[in-house]
Amino acid sequence: MKTLDEYRIEIETALRALNLPGGKFANLYSPIEYAMSAGGKRIRPVLTLMTADAFGEKAPEAIKAALGLEIFHNFTLIHDDVMDKSEIRRGRTTVHKKYDENTAILSGDTMLTLATQYISDVPDEILRKVLNSFNEMAIKVYEGQQLDMDFEKRESIDLSDYIEMIERKTGSLLGTCAKIGAIIGGASDQDAEKMYEFGLQTGIAFQVQDDWLDTFGDPTTFGKSIGGDINNAKKTYLYVSALQQDGEIVKALKEAYRIPAGDVRVKAVTRLYEKLGIDESAKKAVNHFSSRALKAINGTSLPEEEKERFRKLAEKLIGRKK
Ligand code: IPE
Ligand code: IPE
Ligand code: MG
Ligand code: MG
Ligand code: MG
Repeated sequence: MKTLDEYRIEIETALRALNLPGGKFANLYSPIEYAMSAGGKRIRPVLTLMTADAFGEKAPEAIKAALGLEIFHNFTLIHDDVMDKSEIRRGRTTVHKKYDENTAILSGDTMLTLATQYISDVPDEILRKVLNSFNEMAIKVYEGQQLDMDFEKRESIDLSDYIEMIERKTGSLLGTCAKIGAIIGGASDQDAEKMYEFGLQTGIAFQVQDDWLDTFGDPTTFGKSIGGDINNAKKTYLYVSALQQDGEIVKALKEAYRIPAGDVRVKAVTRLYEKLGIDESAKKAVNHFSSRALKAINGTSLPEEEKERFRKLAEKLIGRKK
């Protein structure tokens, strides 16, 4: 039975062996290399390998699909950084800043196709199922990203709008990483759906934690600039949860969000969140969604010791500081 670290090292080794073309296409592939080598947490491919092993000791057969899912994730990050005007990721300059936006678009497009190629490298008997899951998920991610941008321009967002957005932009990918691992491992359809649910709910908790870190995290550990969400008028869990409080504070928050982007806005909004104890409600939300993830894992036919491994994984992800 492999540890999380062993799975992560397996992914890192396989990523290093990708061997992207150079030569006259260096301007297309070196930004990919740059983005992929910056040391992400690799939780999505780890989830795929772990699930494939849990159902059938199939990690060696799942490695290509796992890599494809990590490449897809990195593609979404490169395009997301353009949309969010983010300058730092994983402690390094983002692709569109280091190179330019055209490079971010085209290298990103290339990654989407590379991802699809890797994910298609599964036995013919399961190819259709795997590709359908992947494509359904990709569309959800784009829909979630569109909602995320639409919400920047709306002042009032309720919790159900917010959840609909994050289950698409973040939950669906984690769900699909687990589901594709389950399919490769030979799980029943029922178990594959439960694993999707596990990834989905973990992903929702993970995004709430990401929202919290964007305001309250330590920039060095987190690897991204603090306050980006506030400056982009993102409707994060912190904001949506604050809106549910009493009238005066809500008015103050909406006003603070109208201050021109910059340190003054970030400080004003952060102070309001502190005053409201949003910290606590974010923690509660993370626990709420992770308990749903645990419920899903308990509903699978996996043996108890396997269930325990997924519980530990979920615990680790939601307690993250980076
Ligand atoms: C960042 O994902 C995007 C979100 C869904 C919040 P991760 O936090 O998994 O990023 P890396 O891959 O570890 O850098
Ligand atoms: C993450 O949203 C969703 C995707 C990248 C698809 P964020 O915009 O919060 O992610 P970070 O914080 O930039 O990593
Ligand atoms: Mg974004
Ligand atoms: Mg972003
Ligand atoms: Mg974020």
